[in-house]
Amino acid sequence: MTMERLLCMKGGMGETSYAKNSILQRKAIMKVKTLLDENLLKLMMLKKTSNGCWKIADLGCSSGPNTLISISNIMEIIHKSSLKLNHKKLVFQIYLNDLFENDFNNIFKLLPDFHQSMQGENFGACYMNATPGSFYGRLFPNYYIDIFHSSYCVHWLSQAPIYSKKKTEPLIKGNIYITRESPPSVYDVYLEHFERDFNNFLKSRYEELALDGVMVLTFVGRENNGEITSYEVLGMVLNQMVQEVQ
Ligand SMILES: C[S@@+](CC[C@H](N)C(=O)[O-])C[C@H]1O[C@@H](n2cnc3c(N)ncnc32)[C@H](O)[C@@H]1O
Repeated sequence: MTMERLLCMKGGMGETSYAKNSILQRKAIMKVKTLLDENLLKLMMLKKTSNGCWKIADLGCSSGPNTLISISNIMEIIHKSSLKLNHKKLVFQIYLNDLFENDFNNIFKLLPDFHQSMQGENFGACYMNATPGSFYGRLFPNYYIDIFHSSYCVHWLSQAPIYSKKKTEPLIKGNIYITRESPPSVYDVYLEHFERDFNNFLKSRYEELALDGVMVLTFVGRENNGEITSYEVLGMVLNQMVQEVQ
């Protein structure tokens, strides 16, 4: 079965859920707020044709409160800028995207509190939508979305690369990450796969982005400096645990 039909973060609000274990990702969201501030103000000054309705999509929203932090950051920036620019009252159309198995219900349960806090800020009407599907394909009609946002997602490949059609084993079998011992060919295959995926991602967004729209992507890269990474350590520990139960 394809990865897009299987992959999901741990849903719910339990101790091991994504919602309760995504502080690192939340920090990244807070860090890029200044960048958002600058770019969204530019967008608002350009958008002469705006009818006051802002269509915002968070790609790879997952199942915790982080997505609502991203969305409220964006809404706050637009609200403040529109006051400065004397724009008319705003309406927000929000699209939360993730793969089919994502626990969207967990986010829906957070919405009453979210709406209440937004009303307090007097940001205008806010309509929430869920958009299940892979961001490596089309998700929206042509020229539709004003702001694409995605944090900590685009480094997820559409599937684990394999060597060839005959050898159907994953390249880094027995590990969860490219390690220092991985041969250069492994790096190359991952890079090629990323390029293909990212190309598909950009093609789709290009068709979906409205005139003068913006896209803010935050994702993880790696330095090819041979340093041991935390993922490598995690991989070693998991491997050891698997061996102990075998
Ligand atoms: C680490 S989480 C980040 C979630 C959230 N943006 C945050 O900052 O907390 C990555 C999310 O990307 C989603 N994802 C991975 N590949 C995807 C794809 N092709 N299409 C849509 N979502 C995808 C995963 O299901 C997961 O929920």
